[in-house]
Amino acid sequence: MTHLDLAILGGGNMGRALIGGLLRQGLRPERICVGESRQEARETLSREFGVTSAADNREAIHHANVVVVAVKPQDVQAVLAPLGRLMEQSHPVCLSIAAGVRTRALREWCAAGVPVIRAMPNRPALVGAGITGLFAAPDVDAKHYALAEQVMRSVGEVVRVDTEEALDVVTALSGSGPAYFFRLAELMAEEGVNLGLSPETARRLAIATLHGAGLLAYSGDGDLVRLRQEVTSKGGTTEAALRALDAAGIADIVSRAIRAAADRARELAGEFGPS
Ligand SMILES: NC(=O)c1ccc[n+]([C@@H]2O[C@H](COP(=O)([O-])OP(=O)(O)OC[C@H]3O[C@@H](n4cnc5c(N)ncnc54)[C@H](OP(=O)(O)O)[C@@H]3O)[C@@H](O)[C@H]2O)c1
Repeated sequence: MTHLDLAILGGGNMGRALIGGLLRQGLRPERICVGESRQEARETLSREFGVTSAADNREAIHHANVVVVAVKPQDVQAVLAPLGRLMEQSHPVCLSIAAGVRTRALREWCAAGVPVIRAMPNRPALVGAGITGLFAAPDVDAKHYALAEQVMRSVGEVVRVDTEEALDVVTALSGSGPAYFFRLAELMAEEGVNLGLSPETARRLAIATLHGAGLLAYSGDGDLVRLRQEVTSKGGTTEAALRALDAAGIADIVSRAIRAAADRARELAGEFGPS
């Protein structure tokens, strides 16, 4: 592991996921300092992970070569603005996972010359099975990008995107994506109950199917069409169900859903500073 001294600003869901992932990868807890405003959260983080924490973010970033911004998007400006002077001296990489906060805004709030990289992880990062879209402007050094990639890899896969606009699509696909699968599983379980299963049995069947289908897709070569064809015997039950889905316009529904999420990501970007 390349030398990392990490400050994580915001010790909530994502901050905790990153700490857990990095420690599992062998980073020593003394290499991580968490800036977190809630005292109770700071105490829990120190107890559970053995990391240091600080109420003052300036203290948290003091020795950091990577500063991860893991607060809510509306809190990013307030978190970064007081750190400018310190960043000017230490020049850490600023890695923001805040949804929708653009590079231009982050650069304005960090000190001049601080390399800024944006990441869009997703919720399965909490169990180390996330996927992150990573964007760095062309003027960001490869060694700085590599540090950011190393941090995000601790909670799952990483894909690089070449434009910041593509991060809005990542948000719509994998960022919000877990909820689409949960909704589908929820509806499948509901229909199982309508057809006579107990709610608990129907829920277990839906969840285990989601898990198993995910594992199957992930462990093979990723050919989704072939995977679908392999469970669809001619004239069988799966074919009947897929025909009903197609007749109801599932392709159009999914297309509209993903476009709505991407549009919303673009709109939100306008709300969190210059875009
Ligand atoms: N969760 C996801 O699935 C997901 C996916 C992709 C990206 N993200 C991004 O990840 C970021 C964090 O999300 P999250 O779910 O981890 O949020 P979260 O659980 O609310 O964590 C944010 C933490 O930061 C603390 N905080 C607020 N202001 C602070 C300050 N000035 N200094 C230090 N700490 C401060 C919050 O404390 P208080 O509660 O007291 O405010 C909270 O403990 C967001 O920007 C989100 O867009 C999340």
